[in-house]
Amino acid sequence: MTDIAQPATRPANPRFSSGPCAKPPTWNLDALADAALGRSHRAAIGKDKLKAAIEGTREVLGIPADYKIGIVPASDTGAVEMALWSLLGARGVEMLAWESFGSGWVTDVVKQLKIDAVAKTADYGQLPDLASVDFANDVVFTWNGTTSGVRVPNGDWIADDREGLTICDATSAAFAMDLPWDKLDVTTFSWQKVLGGEAAHGILILSPRAVERLESYTPAWPLPKIFRLTKGGKLIEGIFTGATINTPSMLAVEDYLFALDWARSVGGLEGLIHRADANTKAVADFVEMRDWVDFLAEDATTLSNTSVCLKFTDDRIKDGATFAKAVAKRLEAEGVALDVGAYRDAPAGLRIWCGGTVETSDVEALMPWLDWAFNAEIAAQ
Ligand SMILES: Cc1ncc(COP(=O)(O)O)c(C=O)c1O
Repeated sequence: MTDIAQPATRPANPRFSSGPCAKPPTWNLDALADAALGRSHRAAIGKDKLKAAIEGTREVLGIPADYKIGIVPASDTGAVEMALWSLLGARGVEMLAWESFGSGWVTDVVKQLKIDAVAKTADYGQLPDLASVDFANDVVFTWNGTTSGVRVPNGDWIADDREGLTICDATSAAFAMDLPWDKLDVTTFSWQKVLGGEAAHGILILSPRAVERLESYTPAWPLPKIFRLTKGGKLIEGIFTGATINTPSMLAVEDYLFALDWARSVGGLEGLIHRADANTKAVADFVEMRDWVDFLAEDATTLSNTSVCLKFTDDRIKDGATFAKAVAKRLEAEGVALDVGAYRDAPAGLRIWCGGTVETSDVEALMPWLDWAFNAEIAAQ
């Protein structure tokens, strides 16, 4: 039943996964030739590379000089957990969640830390009521909900004169969206996302207010070594200058340094945002002309420009989940789009990564294949 004509062109790179994401277009294994392999990360060569990763992050993302940037274990999850376990409990907590990752942080805070937090949640496709947030509390949220493709539109809803801290999981936002550093006290992301780096390490960014909290508050619960950011009531400065808590992968560090160089070569943060926006527009132009597909995001001002989530809306579809999986499978079998099925906990559909490492010409080449796979599956179901 696949006699529906196939498009003539295929994406040159079919990698549209939402993590690990496509490597920068100029990447190849030779890019890692200078990695400090087999050397101590505490030797000058290792420390210099770790420091370059920290300062390169600051430069490309425009992070203020008085913010601390640390390379931490266990990717974004590690960075977020360190922040939650080290900082929360000093005052009330509000948790904002509108998809799987945000919900995971709610579970950790309520069930593991046993904090009586206010959870403000919304269904996939929507945002909770940001205007109702009380910034006397510490506020935990995800800048971009990777599994629903819904992001906060900006930071205007965050109070400048807040008493609490804002703790922001920005893993699928950093390097694709404008992050207002004056509104963010703790920001985290992982290398495997927007810059297409390797998994393993997380980045933890602390405002002066977050450091002040760390140095003035000791949580009631024990902290494993891997989470400890202070010693004797003072910040462990080394973590933020390249003396990591434990051993990092120098291969992953080299890869991240390459990704930062590539980011600079496309115009830095502005260039990366532009690339992600252009990719998302290619999907939006397609969606606008079809009556069988729509964004999961209900409000265009909250539409992600990285993890773009689509749902099928055609009445002829018999079983939404089976249909969406079959469409993703067809795309994968043709080698035109890998890993584009919706996240396992999210509503049925497709998720197409549009971050800056993806070429717009590849997104454009993929769109006719969505027509093909959809029509083929309608005919086959
Ligand atoms: C919003 C968000 N938070 C956390 C994570 C977990 O990231 P990692 O696996 O790098 O720890 C992801 C990964 O997709 C994510 O998208």
